[in-house]
Amino acid sequence: MNSDFDKKHKIDFSGFVKFNPAYLKSMFGNTDVLPFWVAETDFKTAPGIMEALKKTAEQGMYGYQYKTPDLKKNLATWFKKRHNLTMNTSGLLFTTSVLTGLAAIIDEFTVAGDGVIIQPPVYSEFQSIIKNLNRQVINNPLKNTDGKYRIDFEDLEEKASAGTNRIMILCNPHNPVGRVWTAEELRQVSDICIVNNVLLLSDEIHSDIIYSGHMFNSIMSLEDEHTNASIMLGSPGKTFGIPGISDAFIYAPNNALRETIKSRIMRFRLGKSNAFTNAATQAAWLSGGEWLDEMISYLENTIQYLDKFLKEELPDITLTIPEGTYQVWLDFRKRGLDEKALKHLLTKKAGLGLNLGRQYGEEGAGFARMNIASPLPVIQQAMEQLRTAINIR
Ligand SMILES: Cc1ncc(COP(=O)(O)O)c(C=O)c1O
Repeated sequence: MNSDFDKKHKIDFSGFVKFNPAYLKSMFGNTDVLPFWVAETDFKTAPGIMEALKKTAEQGMYGYQYKTPDLKKNLATWFKKRHNLTMNTSGLLFTTSVLTGLAAIIDEFTVAGDGVIIQPPVYSEFQSIIKNLNRQVINNPLKNTDGKYRIDFEDLEEKASAGTNRIMILCNPHNPVGRVWTAEELRQVSDICIVNNVLLLSDEIHSDIIYSGHMFNSIMSLEDEHTNASIMLGSPGKTFGIPGISDAFIYAPNNALRETIKSRIMRFRLGKSNAFTNAATQAAWLSGGEWLDEMISYLENTIQYLDKFLKEELPDITLTIPEGTYQVWLDFRKRGLDEKALKHLLTKKAGLGLNLGRQYGEEGAGFARMNIASPLPVIQQAMEQLRTAINIR
């Protein structure tokens, strides 16, 4: 295969959130920034997916869809091949997006005022859905020791045992700090949740982007006592750059939990997808492996470039080398800038649309998240702009 990840594509971006001037203005106060904020890829997707979509478009008929046994089988085969995870397809449910699934589950299994535990700095939409449902955000902040993020199990035990905190959302791999949790870490989290009757929701949307030397462990790869007490959510959206097409799946081996979620999905009609979803996801799981391996190598090369550039040219900005995900977490704290000054440096002086770390919780202050799933020449241009901005006083 000869995918051209270096290429800057000139397509109609007018409907893309990431490039939309109104969004850019509201996020960065400036429409003239190189955008690295939305967690999606700027690469054309795998050729097999494009072919499948073209074929579907050419059929000219776009009826209601359902998830065929074949589609479920292909999903399970993908997880077996990529992550050695054995899934029982009868445990699968489908919904429109991972966030839809998380919100529906939180709403179903908790009442207003209950607490939902998250691990900041973490994907900011977790906070939004919890707050929008009038539940309380309960923080179990990650501990950063010399650039490596770890779970604070003592604090987690305290939060989980409070009695009113009924759900925990685990982000694995973790966006934005890039940790891929080990089986032992997962087991410890799950043990704490089980003892305290906290339902564990494992958001595994980034599970396919794993770098050399690391292995993805799904919560569903643990022993039955753990898999029965948790729910996994995922989607091929991030992996294949199809977040605008795909829907999401929920995997709940526990019959009672699954039936409750299924009934919520049916009551609120949360299971509908569009006529292109099945074609895209089938093709992804059947034929996307080789393309994905190439993209991961490409991203590894980009990470090496960034690390070298920052060490040599901007040594007071530190890159946390990610174990997974295409987000990188940049530590600007040595520059001693407050939030306003960091935003000014990034958006006004350097012309870069990065997410400020504070968005992910107060633990993210002094950091910024950069999505590196862009052509390397664009990343290089961004680094040059940053160097110039920092060197001009
Ligand atoms: C950890 C995590 N979960 C969920 C989502 C959103 O997924 P979806 O578009 O399927 O709701 C994102 C998107 O960035 C994410 O990073």
